[in-house]
Amino acid sequence: MALTDESSPAYLPGFFQIALGSVIDTPRIVEKARGGDGLGWHEHVNDVHEGCERFFRPGYSAHLVAEWLPALEDVVERLERGAVVADVGCGHGASTILMALAFPNSRFVGSDYHDGSIETARRRSGEAGVADRVSFQIASAAGYSGSGYDLVTMFDCLHDMGDPVGAARHVRSTLKRDGTWMIVEPNAGDRVEDNLNPVGRAYYGFSTLLCTPASLSQEVGLALGAQAGEARIRDVVETGGFARFRRVAETPFNLVFEVRP
Ligand SMILES: C[S@@+](CC[C@H](N)C(=O)[O-])C[C@H]1O[C@@H](n2cnc3c(N)ncnc32)[C@H](O)[C@@H]1O
Repeated sequence: MALTDESSPAYLPGFFQIALGSVIDTPRIVEKARGGDGLGWHEHVNDVHEGCERFFRPGYSAHLVAEWLPALEDVVERLERGAVVADVGCGHGASTILMALAFPNSRFVGSDYHDGSIETARRRSGEAGVADRVSFQIASAAGYSGSGYDLVTMFDCLHDMGDPVGAARHVRSTLKRDGTWMIVEPNAGDRVEDNLNPVGRAYYGFSTLLCTPASLSQEVGLALGAQAGEARIRDVVETGGFARFRRVAETPFNLVFEVRP
């Protein structure tokens, strides 16, 4: 399972691939850091992009449709009837495609600021046979198009953004009044000592090499890092204009939040 079953949550090669990509990029990350700069997600070698997809997708396959979406109030019923969904920071579109496969009556708009990732996401959605209900756009989280969304999702990307508060404000302006924003973030406690465990050790490594430089490379450069934790994420979304925030699910790797106006 760990080495050969790409759909198993125990599958490891994606983890190795993103780690290898991070090591390959380390000299450039260090050089930028010396000048106080970050390195953008789009500037990494493809092993980072593809490794990320292969690392996270098995967890999304196991939990997204079976557990995370049902944990949100009233969302599955809407998706079954036919909802409009924005999947922001979608990377290669793994989450977008999983939702599209499960809810054929709904429409999905995936977006990411990285053009190479969107190109791959388009190819993946064609291969998965969902291109009729999925579209992708190259856009930043503070500028994706469309409005009146029933559901906005962000998978493992809010903390990577330079301006997550600006992104939250844009989500607020594109969401229906009774819509839902689902945020999936790396599992982390609020204090450093809560993260001194095997997952925390790996995530602090990725945070230093990938997430924090990604945020620093963008405007504002808030640099939440992969280990932001629930209290910090709550602060970001409340500053962005949302009133309701609750944790609805958790796995060893992810925290899932329901955010509503
Ligand atoms: C760790 S990857 C996660 C990708 C995908 N959601 C997944 O779970 O496989 C973070 C993604 O956030 C995107 N991203 C970072 N900053 C962004 C921004 N300001 N606006 C839109 N996307 C952004 C990156 O291009 C990258 O695809």
